[in-house]
Amino acid sequence: MSGIEKVGVIGGGLMGSGITEVAARAGLDVIVIEISDDAAKAAAERVEGSLRKAESRGKIESAEVTAVLERIRFETDLETLADRDLVVEAASEHEETKLELFRNLGRILTKDDAILASNTSSIPIVKLGAVSGRAHHVMGVHFFNPAPVMQLVELIPSLTTSSETLDRMRSWVTTDLGKKPIDATDRAGFVVNSLLVPYLLSAIRMYEAGYASAEDIDRGMVLGCGHPMGPLALSDLIGLDTIKAIGKSMYDEFKEPLYSPPPLLDRMVDAGLLGKKSGQGFYGYEGR
Ligand code: 3HC
Repeated sequence: MSGIEKVGVIGGGLMGSGITEVAARAGLDVIVIEISDDAAKAAAERVEGSLRKAESRGKIESAEVTAVLERIRFETDLETLADRDLVVEAASEHEETKLELFRNLGRILTKDDAILASNTSSIPIVKLGAVSGRAHHVMGVHFFNPAPVMQLVELIPSLTTSSETLDRMRSWVTTDLGKKPIDATDRAGFVVNSLLVPYLLSAIRMYEAGYASAEDIDRGMVLGCGHPMGPLALSDLIGLDTIKAIGKSMYDEFKEPLYSPPPLLDRMVDAGLLGKKSGQGFYGYEGR
């Protein structure tokens, strides 16, 4: 038994809203923290939109959608998380932002055994634990996009995470949420992004060098390798700013050129072409 009933989620972006939906559908009480009322409203719309999509596909009953939404509150004040059993941080991939959050959350949480988890894909968990003042209760739980659909969660204890914390999170992920975990060590990229990000960056380099059109690169991997979507469409889905940030963290840690973001990725991020979430990336998404 995880003993987790009250959950906080920091950030209602792509990953935060997905994790919120998963937790609330598991019957948990969830508070989502956003940086402004407008961002909180957008997060609420994202969660409801995904639930309505699930409803239209017959994955969830209409009455259950209402019940799930009633279990979620959107707030802008971190202090509202004081009584949480677990907080999952899903803010953007900026180390300073996350360190500041963990510093504050370590002070705010009142329960002695409350767990502070990060959905980071590349920032060292041990650093987040160190600044929180409760390192035994800090670990990584890395979900995959779209979180309501993807089965996998990576569990990442750091050098200072207690075995009780890891056991409780394993139980939360498997028994409470019905997801499937794998264990990873606290190295930038963990298991999946260490393999996936160099592949996505290679596809961007290939497109940048004019090997083939975006459509043909993607069709190649869908039709030739049976992937559900090609690497450029997947990059748009994940968010080009997120891929750049993960690649940069992995490059900083390992100094391997294959992790280094190519110039085209930098330029697209500078231009605000972030993929699906901004309406334009390698493909256009306006009105979709
Ligand atoms: N709740 C439950 N089920 C939902 C749902 C929701 N909110 N939204 C959609 N679904 C279901 C649909 O009903 C459908 O189920 P069905 O096949 O039984 O009918 C299924 O999920 C797929 O939904 P769609 O039909 O809308 O979409 P597609 O069939 O086009 O698939 C996709 C979309 C699931 C995104 C698929 O293309 C895919 O798997 N792509 C790869 C995604 C991937 O690789 N993600 C990992 C990214 S890496 C990452 O996140 C790590 C980070 O750190 C970068």
